[in-house]
Amino acid sequence: MNSTIKISPSILSADFSKLGEEIVSLDKAGADYIHVDVMDGHFVPNITIGPEVIKKLRPFTKKTFDVHLMISPVNKYIEAFSEAGADIITFHPEATKDISETINLIKRQNKKVGISLKPKSSIDLIKNHLEMIDLILIMSVEPGFGGQKFMPEVIDKLKSLKKIISEKKLKIDLEIDGGINFENCKLAKNAGANILVSGSTIFKENNGDLKKNINLLRTN
Ligand code: DX5
Ligand code: ZN
Repeated sequence: MNSTIKISPSILSADFSKLGEEIVSLDKAGADYIHVDVMDGHFVPNITIGPEVIKKLRPFTKKTFDVHLMISPVNKYIEAFSEAGADIITFHPEATKDISETINLIKRQNKKVGISLKPKSSIDLIKNHLEMIDLILIMSVEPGFGGQKFMPEVIDKLKSLKKIISEKKLKIDLEIDGGINFENCKLAKNAGANILVSGSTIFKENNGDLKKNINLLRTN
C-alpha cells in the first residue's frame, strides 16, 4: 500500500534564492514529484513564479514536474507551461470558461491533466469530465499560501471521489494539498489519497531533514 504513495514536495516552502539546489536536494531525498505552485495575484492573493523560472529549473532533475496552476484565465498559458517542462498540468475549474477546452489544450501538449478542487468546490464541477483526466488535486487549505492549517472537512470529499473512481473503474490519481503533516497524512491516505503534497512539513520539520520528512510522510 505505502509503496504506491507518491510524495510531491512543494517548492513554495523552499529557499527561492537557490531553487535549483533545493530541487536537487529534493530529488536526492527521494521525492517522487516536484510540486510547483503557480500563483497570479488574481485567482489567488499571492504571486509566485511563471514559465521562465520553471524552464530554468527543468535541467536540475528528471523527476515529474507537478505544476499546480492557480491562475485565471488559464488557457492562454497552457502552452508556455508545457514548453517550460511541466509533466502534469493542474488547473482550477473556476479559472476557465470551458473545462473541456482546457483539458483538450493540455492533452494536445501530451501532458497529464489534473483538476483541482478548492475546499468549498463541489465534485459536481468535475463529474462530467472524469473520463478525460488523470488526476484530481483536493485542496485542504484555501489556495494562496503555504503553512496553513489542514481542513479536515475535505476528507469526506476525498472519500466520495475515491468511491466514484472505483465504481467507474477509472485510473485517476488523488492528490491532497495543503497543511499535510505526519499525523493527518494517515487520514488522507486512508481516505484514498495516493499523492501527498507538502511544503512546510518537508522543509521545516526535523531541522529540514528532507529525506527523513519525505520518508515519514510516505510510511506513517
Ligand atoms: C497552497 C499550495 C500548496 C501549499 C503546500 O496554495 O497549493 O501546495 O503551498 O504547502 P503546505 O504543505 O505548507 O501547506
Ligand atoms: Zn499546490
